[in-house]
Amino acid sequence: MKTRILYGKPVAEKIIRKLARTVDEITKQNIRPPGLGIIHAGFDPASRIYIKNKQQVAQASGFYVEILEPDNENQLFDAIEYMNRSSQIDGFIVQLPLPPLWNIDAVLEKIEPSKDADGFHPLNSGRIMAGQNGILPATPAGILSLLAYYGISTSGKHVVIAGRSRIVGRPLSVWLSANHPQGNATVTLIHSRTLNPENYIRQADIFVSAVGKPHIWKLKHFKPGAVVVDVGINRCGERLCGDVDSEGLEGFVSAITPVPGGVGPMTVASLIRNVWLLYKRYFLATPGFFNNGKTGV
Ligand code: GUN
Repeated sequence: MKTRILYGKPVAEKIIRKLARTVDEITKQNIRPPGLGIIHAGFDPASRIYIKNKQQVAQASGFYVEILEPDNENQLFDAIEYMNRSSQIDGFIVQLPLPPLWNIDAVLEKIEPSKDADGFHPLNSGRIMAGQNGILPATPAGILSLLAYYGISTSGKHVVIAGRSRIVGRPLSVWLSANHPQGNATVTLIHSRTLNPENYIRQADIFVSAVGKPHIWKLKHFKPGAVVVDVGINRCGERLCGDVDSEGLEGFVSAITPVPGGVGPMTVASLIRNVWLLYKRYFLATPGFFNNGKTGV
């Protein structure tokens, strides 16, 4: 069996190119461009790199971008209020992780749901949970687009997801188990307290790892022919590496995403698309956007 490498870059570039063309057509009519806000609270060095990347891709697509860097929790709430009120910003994110002991739930609840580009506000995660069209967080949305691009259907498949974060595992598990064309999977969500995770992973037609631990899953964990989606971005010495050790997987699994260059670029493209969707819904006010039977992703 030839193992397919599911590169994210060409897929992300296709999404971005299409968005950039549409934004260009709009701004030529003297309508303001979509605006992305990013709040970077805390001092996580990896976050700085991710934010720079999001900023560059959004600006290259013709989006307006504004970044705020609050130093403490009060300033963070002020920054959220500023983004909530700004007439230039259609969607914004508070980059995670926050510094230890900051109240993440209180922070996410302050985001105006109609500007919630991450889909982390309880109203938006509730919409996904209820099967309503809403904003799906960028990483799950990116994974769905990647699978769709490579013609990998989830319907009837056993998808095993490792990691239950609000960023990836939880929303993805809900979305994939729902009754719609990009779902209809049988989903198992495993996590740090799961006993004998290999018992589940070995049954996976599609395995998604979002645990952030370098090379913890190896050849012995997988079923032959499985599709492996590696969301992990970890440091392995000087290099970046995923959660999955690809040693021996060539010819054994049917497809695998590379790290870097797999899910990462898809996340950025999906975030920018989420801002576009919010802009279209709340600024351009296309009638029936959330209720037109489309997924919104
Ligand atoms: N940190 C890692 N991934 C994400 C994401 O998708 N959104 C936010 N806000 N923070 C992150």
